[in-house]
Amino acid sequence: MTSNLAIDVRNIVHSYDRNIVLENVNFEVKQGDFIGIFGPNGGGKTTLLKLLMGFEKPTSGKIKLFGKSPEKLRPYVGYVPQIQQLDKRFPITVLEIVMMAFLSKTNLFGKIPKKYTEKALEALAQVGLENKINHTFGTLSGGQAQRVLIARAIANDPKILFLDEPTASVDPQAEEEILHILDSLKGQTTILMVTHDLQTILNKVEGLLCVHRQVHRSLPNQICEHFGLGLYHTPITTIGKPGKIK
Ligand SMILES: Nc1ncnc2c1ncn2[C@@H]1O[C@H](COP(=O)(O)OP(=O)(O)OP(=O)(O)O)[C@@H](O)[C@H]1O
Ligand SMILES: [Mg+2]
Repeated sequence: MTSNLAIDVRNIVHSYDRNIVLENVNFEVKQGDFIGIFGPNGGGKTTLLKLLMGFEKPTSGKIKLFGKSPEKLRPYVGYVPQIQQLDKRFPITVLEIVMMAFLSKTNLFGKIPKKYTEKALEALAQVGLENKINHTFGTLSGGQAQRVLIARAIANDPKILFLDEPTASVDPQAEEEILHILDSLKGQTTILMVTHDLQTILNKVEGLLCVHRQVHRSLPNQICEHFGLGLYHTPITTIGKPGKIK
C-alpha cells in the first residue's frame, strides 16, 4: 500500500437489516487532502463516515486508515456529527463539550490532566469562541454550536477529521467562518466533509465523492453546474485511475 494514503477503501458493501445501502465502494484519499462528500438524502453519506470511523462494520470489504483498522485509528480521528443528532438542551458548558475529546485521558483519580484543559481552550480559541467557555451549549446559535463541535473534533490534533454537514442550517457568515477554520487545518489534517453546498467548497477541495448507494469520485473541475444546483448525477467525465481521487 502507498505510504501517503490516509484512507484506503476496498470493495465495501454495507447493509442494514439486509437492505443494501452501499455497494462496490472503492476509493483512496491521500494524506492532507480535503475531500467533499455529497449526494442525495439517504444516499449513504453518514453511513460511509460511520464505516470509516469503525462505528459500523462493513458487511464485506476492507477499510484501512493509515494502514490500520478504523477501530485502531479512532483515537486519532475527529468527528463533527450532523447537528440534529445532538440534544441542545443537554445542560453542559462549551468547555465541557470540548473536554469530551479527552475522556479517555483520565488519570488514576478519574480526572483529566490539566494540560488537556489547555488544549481544549486552545481549540476554542482556534474557532473564535474563547469568550463562550462557560456558556451552556443550548444557549448558542447554530453556527456557534457547530464551531464548538469543530473545536471538540480538532482539540486532540486528529490525523483525519470527518465532518457531517457542518454548514447545514448556519448563516453564510458562520459558513464562511467554518470554512476558514478548515482552511487553517489544510495540509496537516486529512479532511472529509459532507455538504450539500458544493459551490462553496469547489475551489477548496482536492476531490469529491458522490455517495448514492455507490461512490463516484471526481475532481472539482469535473463538476458541472447541475451539481451546484443539487441535481445529482454521476460525473460526466472521469480522469485518472478508477477508484483514485486525484
Ligand atoms: N442504523 C440504521 N438502521 C437502519 N437503516 C439505516 C440506519 N442508518 C441509516 N439507515 C438507512 O440507510 C440509508 C442511508 O442513510 P444515511 O444516513 O447514511 O444517508 P445520508 O446520505 O447521510 O442522508 P442525509 O443526507 O439525509 O443525511 C437510508 O435509507 C437510511 O434510512
Ligand atoms: Mg447524513
